[in-house]
Amino acid sequence: MGKSRIRRIGILTGGGDCPGLNAVIRGVTKPAQDYGMSVYGILDGFEGLVEGRAIELTNNDVSGILARGGTILGSSNKGDPFHWPIERGDKTEIVNKAEEAIKNYQTWNLDALIAIGGDGTMHICNKLVQMGLNIIGVPKTIDNDLDATDITFGHDSAVYVVMMALDRLHTTASSHHRVIVCEVMGRYAGWIALNGGIAGGADIILIPEIPFSWQKVYDKIHKRQLMGKKFSLVCAAEGAKAEGGEMVVKEKDIKRTDPIQLGGIGAVVAKNIEKNTGRETRVTVLGHLQRGGSPTPFDRILATKFGAFAIELASLGKFGRMVALKGNEIKSVKIEDAIGKQKLVQPDNQAVFAAKSIGISFGV
Ligand code: F6P
Repeated sequence: MGKSRIRRIGILTGGGDCPGLNAVIRGVTKPAQDYGMSVYGILDGFEGLVEGRAIELTNNDVSGILARGGTILGSSNKGDPFHWPIERGDKTEIVNKAEEAIKNYQTWNLDALIAIGGDGTMHICNKLVQMGLNIIGVPKTIDNDLDATDITFGHDSAVYVVMMALDRLHTTASSHHRVIVCEVMGRYAGWIALNGGIAGGADIILIPEIPFSWQKVYDKIHKRQLMGKKFSLVCAAEGAKAEGGEMVVKEKDIKRTDPIQLGGIGAVVAKNIEKNTGRETRVTVLGHLQRGGSPTPFDRILATKFGAFAIELASLGKFGRMVALKGNEIKSVKIEDAIGKQKLVQPDNQAVFAAKSIGISFGV
């Protein structure tokens, strides 16, 4: 690694947190000195860039953070400089603060910015790149819904939480001869429910990409009953919807980068199952348990590789790019090509095939 003409880089974590963010921050900061660079950690995502809040990060500051969940820098999904909410009385006004963000970047003498985030963060990065900032994106999200990378770090850790939860729900559902519905995150993609459901031995998996028939869900529970299996586990993605139905929205908040907050399908599914099958049914919503805690080995390794690759790109002056996992290799793609393309579960996906082969129902 040679000394670079890039001297000072900023780093921030934007959007919802996930396990592995600290491993990226460490993967960027530890090698920085060898490149002849210093690192400036911007606090609370783009909020800190707009408001001018940052701290110097040294090798010592990132020691011992590999196993720590969350982000030592803080994050926010309300700090979009191009969509900045201001409270005026009981009204919320949306203004553009991009110039402030650019001014702070210049005041701090940054040569480049490494932004770790999901699709919302990459959209912001793309606009800032067009305004002249040197940015490298690092994709993260438990949802695994970014098309430009095969896998995002954070996903494996979330799937692990779902698996552990289903293992535990299994024993109590079985003891009480109950149906238990476990609602998991994932936004508009079913990856967490699909992978977590397979890993945790769910009997029914409901995902947004495969709208389900209520009758088929009830039929599966009856069928298991006839086979002498007195309990059933349903793993429902928060974005799952019935055929001809809508996703269940918990709240809308215009201050967020994505104003829609999903949630509540688990309770709806549980209520209908109990009413229509006569089986006692309970619901567990895993919520933010899936985002917290220590990253799995897979996520620690992927996040470290992403961080190390991102600073290498910065040293070479390759800006406007996002690091990505392609097969077994870390590569980079143009941020403008990476944004707005959701990776959804295709019905012919091999995991869907495997799940169906072993008798898991998707309610179709
Ligand atoms: O994108 C990650 C995610 O955890 C989604 O799975 C979920 O829909 C959303 O964020 C929840 O966001 P918040 O933490 O703002 O409620």
